[in-house]
Amino acid sequence: MRDAIITGWGKCLPPAVLSNSDLETVTDTSDEWITTRTGIKERRISHVEMSDLSAVASQHALASAGVAAEDLDLILVATCSSDRMIPSAATMVQGKIGAINAAGMDLNAACSGFIFALSTADQMIKTGAMDTVLVVGAEKLSNWLDFTNRSTSVLFGDGAGAVIVQATDTDSEVGLLAFELGSDGTAGDLLCVPSSGTEGPADRPELPRIMMEGKEVFRRAVTSMSDASTRVLAAAGLDIDDVDLVVTHQANVRILDATARRLNIPPEKMFVNIAAYGNTSAATIPIALAEAIEEGKIEPGGIVLFAAFGGGFTWAAAVYRWGPRVESLGTSQAQLPPNHKTALELLAGNIAVHGTGV
Ligand code: ACO
Repeated sequence: MRDAIITGWGKCLPPAVLSNSDLETVTDTSDEWITTRTGIKERRISHVEMSDLSAVASQHALASAGVAAEDLDLILVATCSSDRMIPSAATMVQGKIGAINAAGMDLNAACSGFIFALSTADQMIKTGAMDTVLVVGAEKLSNWLDFTNRSTSVLFGDGAGAVIVQATDTDSEVGLLAFELGSDGTAGDLLCVPSSGTEGPADRPELPRIMMEGKEVFRRAVTSMSDASTRVLAAAGLDIDDVDLVVTHQANVRILDATARRLNIPPEKMFVNIAAYGNTSAATIPIALAEAIEEGKIEPGGIVLFAAFGGGFTWAAAVYRWGPRVESLGTSQAQLPPNHKTALELLAGNIAVHGTGV
């Protein structure tokens, strides 16, 4: 049987840390509110572009899989904060890592993007069209933070994660056992970044900024992720007790808790790293996955449940049976150029345009 499995994984978090106490100086908030209402303690602010974060995460994933960049057939970058509309982030990554034989394309499903891209890679491989695919989830949402809006500016951070997906011949099914992708375009205005594309007058003066109806997003995130998870488990012929680890989009620790309660998942099976990075949108799942493997939370043959919800609205869930290997085959020395600025210094231009909320 021809299957598609994850054979390498990597992440890249920029070094500058924006703490909750830093945020207290630029918006009307407190460490206590952010910690209790979201579970976030700090997030990273990038001194380089999103494609640079992606390229470093990709080089770690390639080394982990023991795959040369020239052997990639396809690069999929899931993002909603691309450096540029043209060229695509995927082709920028292709150029940066020297993947001369790969096609590249971007996929925007906001925070659900990584599962959309992983299932696309899976299907490309299962049909025989491709053998080796790089899937990246990466964001630089810090450019769109508006510190006059305390409901959104405390949530988001920058980062990238990547996996290599490869064809394999197996006797028993491994890789993605079932997946569901969904969208509701009628709710698009509830979580959006107006004027981040071509809409509006050509001479509009303001920078794009994230806007969100937090309460409705919260409610829909919990129901969509838990309902889709129940359906993909049923499609895979599995029960919630068969799941070894749940790796969901990291938007708010209270969303994760409520989803776990609805699915009857014990807390120790939920992977949670939101305290350190905040919501990095499409990057949260591949970063969490890389950390879960590093921490020994995934075993050969283990069942991983993925679920995500994001702007669009979009949602996705997938059940994945891990392959035979949880150790990396190699390591990469790839790293970002040095950064000499604090997170607040990196955000100074943004603050100068939007102002502060204090
Ligand atoms: N600091 C202090 N007080 C605050 C802050 C803050 N940062 N933000 C809001 N408040 C205040 C509000 O003004 C309000 O005050 P009031 O009662 O005097 O009016 C009070 O706190 C409660 O506000 P709520 O909006 O009801 O707070 P809530 O508990 O809903 O938390 C939050 C807001 C964190 C945004 C939550 O709704 C949430 O996490 N939503 C989901 C986000 C998400 O899942 N996004 C996923 C996708 S992201 C993507 O696709 C790119």
